[in-house]
This record gives sequence, C-alpha cells and structure tokens, in this order.
Amino acid sequence: MAGKAAVIGAGFYGSTTALRLAEFDLFDEVVLTDIRDGWSEGLALDLNSSRPIIGFETQLTGKTTTPDGQGYEVIEGSDVVIITAGLPRKPGMSRMDLLEVNAKIVRGVAEKVAAFAPDAVVIVVSNPLDEMTRLAQIATGFPHARVMGQAGMLDTARFSFFVAEKLGIPVRDVTTLTLGSHGDTMVPIPSACSVRIDGAARPLAAALSSADIEALVKRTRAGGAEVLALLKTGSAYYAPSAAAAAMAKAVATDSGEVMPVCAWVTGQYGITDVYLGVEAKLGKSGVVEIVERSLTDDEVTQLHEAAEAVRAKSEDVVAM
Ligand code: LAC
Repeated sequence: MAGKAAVIGAGFYGSTTALRLAEFDLFDEVVLTDIRDGWSEGLALDLNSSRPIIGFETQLTGKTTTPDGQGYEVIEGSDVVIITAGLPRKPGMSRMDLLEVNAKIVRGVAEKVAAFAPDAVVIVVSNPLDEMTRLAQIATGFPHARVMGQAGMLDTARFSFFVAEKLGIPVRDVTTLTLGSHGDTMVPIPSACSVRIDGAARPLAAALSSADIEALVKRTRAGGAEVLALLKTGSAYYAPSAAAAAMAKAVATDSGEVMPVCAWVTGQYGITDVYLGVEAKLGKSGVVEIVERSLTDDEVTQLHEAAEAVRAKSEDVVAM
C-alpha cells in the first residue's frame, strides 16, 4: 500500500477518479470531499461496500467541506491531491467560459490544500485546465514541480482511440501524442504517432492519408465537446478520470513514467515560464523532468502559439 490520495470535488469526474484510485488497491486511503452535505460520505459508503465484491482494501473516506475550510483536515497527510472542484461545461460552452467561476472555486480549494496537505503533489483537472493549473500553483505556493494538470493523457487517449477505430485495429497497437493546451490550441503531434499493423510498426502517415489524419486531429481537438454534445448535461468523465488516476498512480508509486501532462516549462522547445502540455517524467516529487523530443518546425510553431495563448489567459486569471 502506498499512502493516501485525496480527491476534491465529488462530481462525476471526482467520484470516478476516486473509484479508479481505490480499485488500484494501492493506497491505504482515498479521500473524497464535496461541498454538498453528505454527498461524499454517501459515495464513500457506497464505494466501501463494493470492496468485498471487487476485492480491494483501500479505505474510502468521504467528507463534506465548507467554504471556510471545515472538513479539510480529512486530507491531512495526503501524498497526492486531485482538484476536480469547479463547474463542468454545458453544451455550446468553451472551456474558457468557465474561467471566472472556476477561478474562484479553484483558488479557494488550492489555499485549503496548501494549509492541510502542504507536502502533497497536486493534480488539477478543473477547466480551463492550463490556466487553473497555474492558478493552483500560485494559490498553493507550492514549487512548480509539485503542481501539474491533467489533459495530455486524456487528449492523447482520445486521439489513439479515434485512430484505432478508423483503422479497425486494437488500441494497444496505436501510439499517439498531443501537446499544447487543453483547448483550441491543443497540438496533436502526428510525427510522434505510429501504428502496428500485421506485426510491423509504421508511422501514422504510412497508414492513413493526410486528409484522414487531419480529420482525426480535428476530432481529437473537439473530443471533449463531442461527448458534451451527446451527454447534454455535463462533460466527459470516464476517460478523464482514467487519465487523472494514471497520473496519481505514477506519482504514488514513483514510477518514473513519461506522460503528456500540463507542466511548468522552463526553456523546453524555447518556451519559458508557462504551464503547457508537454511530456514529463512523473515521480514522488511530482514532475521529475520534462522530456523534450524532436518535433517538426510546424509542431514547434503550434506549441509556441499554445504557450502564448495560455500565458495571456493565465495573466487574466491571476489578476481576477
Ligand atoms: C474533457 C474535459 C474534461 O476534455 O475537459 O472532456
């Protein structure tokens, strides 16, 4: 068993993240908090009751919290805290439309996390993701390496699934990558994509026409909106929670896995001092190292555009 994880916000994203973390049977305890009275306690009771069936020993603890910080003592000693608090999109909304409302929520939550779990690694999933990650880092005052955002794992998974579906091959035979922001300036990286067909690895460009790749890239960029339009009442959570839980597991187990995450860049790709989707090695201390790969000129240009878009919005959010 490897310590304690806390999930702040028990909406669909938060509660499915807690479920996934618990079912890893890796943590001693997974805490779930929410401001709705009794909601997270009820979910924890329900999740704990699934333990004899699924067969995991991780203890779920639910706790109602108040805006002035009551209840937050439950996250004390957490090794990793996942911030899911905030509103999800409604159909027709962009993630950026949530900027103001979620900034208030995320700032308040991040301050409580800093007070009650000062040594935790923080994973932010609230939208708009890149800006909320920056805000959480400022509000916690934690070193940049200990605050990261979840987006690249999700966007990359969507891209891989769309490619697998298009080619009719198993998802395990597809490797893709997206960098940049979790929004309009998401940067899918076709040069890093490959597929395995009949046992042989080949570049994506050898398996699909450029028009097909472009269509899949477009679909990936709008992957969240496609789910949202179907659900109508809220945004995706199964793939997002799988991504957040995988990151938390990499941190808790000090795995050293390299994943696409929203991390603070310090000169990589010629970009400095902004949160951006890049590949990073994750471990107990959070982001251990950002891993740079060789990109095409066009991909680097798009990454710079993403960085400047995030930088501008992050300044807005910090000033709020
Ligand atoms: C999505 C939301 C969670 O992409 O940002 O589905």
